[in-house]
Amino acid sequence: MSGGGSSTCAILVAAGAGERLGFDRPKAFVGLGGRVLLAESLERLDTNDWVDTIVVAVPAGWEEAAIVLAEEVVASKVAAVVTGGATRSDSVRAGLAEVPEEALVVLVHDAARPLVGDDVVERVLAPLSEGYDGAVPGLPLADTVKRVQDGVAVETLDRSRLVTVQTPQAFTADALRRAYATEGHVDATDCASLVEARGGRVRVVEGDPRLLKITTPADLALVESWLAD
Ligand code: CTP
Ligand code: MG
Repeated sequence: MSGGGSSTCAILVAAGAGERLGFDRPKAFVGLGGRVLLAESLERLDTNDWVDTIVVAVPAGWEEAAIVLAEEVVASKVAAVVTGGATRSDSVRAGLAEVPEEALVVLVHDAARPLVGDDVVERVLAPLSEGYDGAVPGLPLADTVKRVQDGVAVETLDRSRLVTVQTPQAFTADALRRAYATEGHVDATDCASLVEARGGRVRVVEGDPRLLKITTPADLALVESWLAD
């Protein structure tokens, strides 16, 4: 895996507006546990032994704040801070442009999931040495899932064959670069779907409930309580 001489770069996407959270600033710069939300995932990735470099994508106008933050948390692996784009895919693409040439593995992570642990990083990296193009953390669904059309249930899906997917997501740099090479607008909610669309093989590994994506104020309060544990 990445220890075998290959280099791993993490792209931390933090360029969203955080509209659903509804604060006066982008989500990545909202407070969490006494510092800004972005600090948590940045510090965790920086101290992860598998991660060699980090590229952070932030909203326009927040680049300097991110650089200062990286200094504050002593995130010495930050290779670049880039301005994100209008969609998550645009932000990933902007980050990818700054991934060092020698990186053979790219890890993409949402800053909106602050509690990224070393164990899940290890789980998503492992399949890359088994020939997979990528790996994502997945969680089983607790509820029954139905397809709905105009408010009417038209199908009940087999829950046992479904997972909800989180980040960090790991890819060979080649597979990810190919997935984002397509010109024009792509609006995928995760990177793996683009890799899959190009025929890439993506392994699903065990996710982590604490990787909850902070979307609403209730999510923020919940993650804050976990942080205090
Ligand atoms: N993201 C990004 N660039 C965008 C949109 C999203 O880098 N143009 C990042 C967010 O910063 C977040 C992750 O992608 O870390 C997942 O996005 P989401 O949870 O939807 O965050 P926001 O887009 O900020 O929230 P909202 O949709 O409520 O505005
Ligand atoms: Mg969004």
